[in-house]
Amino acid sequence: MFERVCTTDDVWVGELIAFDVASRKIILINVEDKFHAYDAQCPHQDQSLCEGSLEGTVLTCPAHQWQFDVTTGLGVNPTGCKLKAYALKIEADEIYVDAEQTPEKPKQHEPSHEHHQ
Ligand code: FES
Repeated sequence: MFERVCTTDDVWVGELIAFDVASRKIILINVEDKFHAYDAQCPHQDQSLCEGSLEGTVLTCPAHQWQFDVTTGLGVNPTGCKLKAYALKIEADEIYVDAEQTPEKPKQHEPSHEHHQ
């Protein structure tokens, strides 16, 4: 279920803010004027990313300096890990996050139509 977290004016470009959504801690990031919502638990040892530092598109975990590309959630250093992303929508400048839904909901048993050439 989508929950309203804040307005688009509350999170400036290059900013990271932590919110509680459905009793989960999430981080909301505005990078290059696009918003992303991720679980605040680092995939390394579950430390909080709420105090992580954001430089450009790279978020660094304060615990052991793992780094993630916040446009994709993928690990930059090391690679092979991923932040857990949540679905996010913006309606009339209000940001809503669904902490039970990932951004691209996997479709069930549907043949792939993704290879257009
Ligand atoms: S818990 Fe984040 S890098 Fe170790």
